[in-house]
Amino acid sequence: MGFSTDAIHVGQEPDATTGAIIVPIYQTSTFVQEALGKHKGYEYARTSNPTRVALERNLAALERARFGFAFASGMAAINALMTLFKAGDHIVAGHNLYGGSFRLFERVLKDFGLAFSYANTCRLGEVETAFRPHTRLLFIETPTNPVMEITDIAAAAAVAHRHGALLAVDNTFMSPYFQRPLELGADMVVHSTTKYLNGHSDGVGGAVTLNDAALAERLKFLQNAAGAILGPFDSWLVLRGVKTLAVRMERHNQNGLAVAQFLARHPKVKKVHYPGLTSHPQHELARKQMSGFGGMIAFETGSLENARTVLNSVRLCSLAESLGGVETLISHPATMTHASVPAEERQRIGITDGLVRISVGIEDVEDLISDLDQALVRI
Ligand SMILES: Cc1ncc(COP(=O)(O)O)c(C=O)c1O
Repeated sequence: MGFSTDAIHVGQEPDATTGAIIVPIYQTSTFVQEALGKHKGYEYARTSNPTRVALERNLAALERARFGFAFASGMAAINALMTLFKAGDHIVAGHNLYGGSFRLFERVLKDFGLAFSYANTCRLGEVETAFRPHTRLLFIETPTNPVMEITDIAAAAAVAHRHGALLAVDNTFMSPYFQRPLELGADMVVHSTTKYLNGHSDGVGGAVTLNDAALAERLKFLQNAAGAILGPFDSWLVLRGVKTLAVRMERHNQNGLAVAQFLARHPKVKKVHYPGLTSHPQHELARKQMSGFGGMIAFETGSLENARTVLNSVRLCSLAESLGGVETLISHPATMTHASVPAEERQRIGITDGLVRISVGIEDVEDLISDLDQALVRI
């Protein structure tokens, strides 16, 4: 079936006992067994819960994956994925990851014996040289947060596989509507469902989808063993959000392009990072591996003072971390989402003090543009 049909129907068949068209929120911790060893497939809700299973089936279908697992947050999903590896293993990661991923790797997982190297994954030669004999995983985000650099997923998968490693892609920014890394050769896809998949800024969650049965078995074991599962109500919220993913993403994309074009023309804006602009250095690659460009934009105002002026002057856009909701959010990566990345590293990857990030929502785009304009003219 097509993407929108799957988003609305997979895992969401009418309830067998009542006919309810919406998957019930199975707010229960345990399941009564008919006799010793005889049950309906559910024993304890950390191990498995019908609302979560419905979401896991749905997300797997959208990523065109065989298996899906839902976690308490995007970070819990990334942490679970990393526990597939063991002390002594080496991981090559993109140099411009979400700050929380970098913090998890550097300040938590390193202490458990995982080794990390960082490379600009847009330059595959740089990735190639980062590999070591014990490299087990290449972990990338594309586009990157917030400077919207693109990595060639198929080429990255080829490099990883040539070295006997796996490729995992954080697909949070594009959602499976615009980009499906497994179809391009990746082995695992991770999401913060908090963002576009949920889409309504009312829940935190994460997911991993994949095709390999042995890896999936291990991840299911880890999900239950470590227990960072997504609760039934939050699973239900994501299920509800996902039903409108296709129409929301179309509108994010339309609004994103219009706002990016407006910013690119604005005299107070020095640079715009948006893969949908033909001026983006990797526009052609973006067109090749994505079917849209989404609603994430970063733009350069030139200084911290200018960024502060814009951020303090917007009225419709909300100053907040996070992204992917129906409402437009605006933020300052250097002091907000990427504050945990050391200052020199931030400079190196282009997260300047004057950089502002927008998660363009699905409001009327003229209203967004006039709000940004009245804020920019104050610079
Ligand atoms: C690209 C990306 N990956 C992962 C995460 C972490 O997700 P969560 O906040 O749901 O733990 C975020 C959060 O902003 C993100 O932007």
